[in-house]
Formats: sequence, structure tokens, C-alpha cells
Amino acid sequence: MSGETGDRHGGGVDMESCVADLILETRNLSKDYRDGDATAHVLRAVDLTIERGDFVAVMGPSGCGKTTLLNVLGLMTPPTSAASLRLNGEDCLDLSDAQRTRLRRRSIGFVFQRFNLLGTLSARRNVELALHLRREPSDGQVERVLEQVGLSGCAHRKPGRLSIGEQQRAAIARAVVCRPALLLADEPTGNLDSDNATAVIDLFRHFHATSNMTIVMITHSLDCARSADRILRMKDGRLDA
Ligand SMILES: Nc1ncnc2c1ncn2[C@@H]1O[C@H](COP(=O)(O)OP(=O)(O)O)[C@@H](O)[C@H]1O
Ligand SMILES: [Mg+2]
Repeated sequence: MSGETGDRHGGGVDMESCVADLILETRNLSKDYRDGDATAHVLRAVDLTIERGDFVAVMGPSGCGKTTLLNVLGLMTPPTSAASLRLNGEDCLDLSDAQRTRLRRRSIGFVFQRFNLLGTLSARRNVELALHLRREPSDGQVERVLEQVGLSGCAHRKPGRLSIGEQQRAAIARAVVCRPALLLADEPTGNLDSDNATAVIDLFRHFHATSNMTIVMITHSLDCARSADRILRMKDGRLDA
């Protein structure tokens, strides 16, 4: 793992046992957007390593490239160039669209600032749909995860009849119901008051602690970021080393 916490394994351990179990790795990753004749260099030579089970917060000013980074890490959009982009041990640079979609569905859950629930479906159906897309039968985990996020009593309601805190907890249930190895969250508390923000962070910590889920969370809130194991800072498309 690169970043602020250094060597977790301590001294005196032979090098073989120190090989990190990386869930995400990028080397020299860049993303450009063309706008007419101009090119915006949105991600610049990003080197990032994240170990399985890490909880990482990403902070930086608006427009510095945080969402773009999350979309590239989440295989939503390919980088313009990269020496390496690996997820869960798989090289992601030469995958077809279909392979990328399969790997994303198998390995990643997403939580967004604006929840992105389907408004025509109940909270429960929104969660079930995530399982359905992975062609997994429910063996009770929908009810279990709804209970874990405190929505058992109101999961029959559509998002429009849930509070914003409940909507985000439904979105978290949808993101984790398939037990993804990686949870990517883009300003998950950005639309919430402080009590609901605390509830979201508590849920992240719960799933992180109980299922070894790796979490990468963009946030503008230092309070939220301090709940993570480490904080990465981003500026002008670059990650601080
Ligand atoms: N699809 C796109 N096409 C063109 N420019 C984009 C696109 N997505 C993002 N950008 C630009 O990339 C820069 C970084 O955006 P973004 O990753 O959303 O930053 P942040 O999440 O840190 O606010 C911004 O200048 C934004 O306008
Ligand atoms: Mg953003």
C-alpha cells in the first residue's frame, strides 16, 4: 500500500510474506477529455495501490478529477492511457466492454451522492435488482441487508416515500447485497445532514469490519474522511504521494 501508514507488516518478516494483497493498482494512468480543439488532462499519471480490506478517503477541490478517478477505478470508463490498471488481480486494460461489465458487477458496489435508486421500484426491489443482475438467487441476504441498514420496516416503499437518509441506506443495501470486494462511494454524505451522514459512515465501518470490504470514498468532509484508514489528496488530476 502506498500512502501515509507505511509498512503494516513490521520489521523482521521475510519478504515473501510481505507481498501485499492488492485489490486495486494503477500505474501512470491518465484520462483526457477532448472539447473541440482543446484537451483537458483530467487524470495525470496516477499511481495508486490499495490493499484488500483498506478503507481509503479521497479529498480534493471540486473539478480536480475525483469522480473521474472513481469512474475509471470502477471500470465505468476506460483510461486514455495507463501502464497498469488491475482490479482484484485482473488486468483491466484489454478487456472488452462485456468483460468489463461482468467484472464490475462481480466485484464492485457503487454508492452515489444522489442515491440513484430506481424511483418506480420499492427499496426492496431496488436491492433485489442488484442480485438479479448478477443472476444470483436470494438466499435471504436481501432481508438481512435491509435489516442491517435499518430499513426492514419500510422497504416496501418507493424512494419518493423514504427520507433522504433512508434512501441512501437503501442505496448502500443495494451496493453491498452481493458482497462486493470493493465499494466505491462518490460523496455519499454530500446530500445528508450530519446525523444521516454519521449513519452512513457507521454502516461503511460496519461492512468494512464484518466483511473485509475494501472501501474507496470521495468526500469533502474531513470528519467523514477521518473515519477512513487513510486519506489520499487529489489536486489538478494528480494524487499526492
Ligand atoms: N465526460 C466528460 N467530458 C468532458 N469533461 C469532463 C467529463 N467528465 C468530467 N469532465 C471534466 O473533468 C474535470 C474533473 O471532473 P470530475 O472528475 O467530475 O471532478 P470532481 O469530482 O473532483 O469534482 C472537470 O473539469 C470536468 O468538467
Ligand atoms: Mg465529483
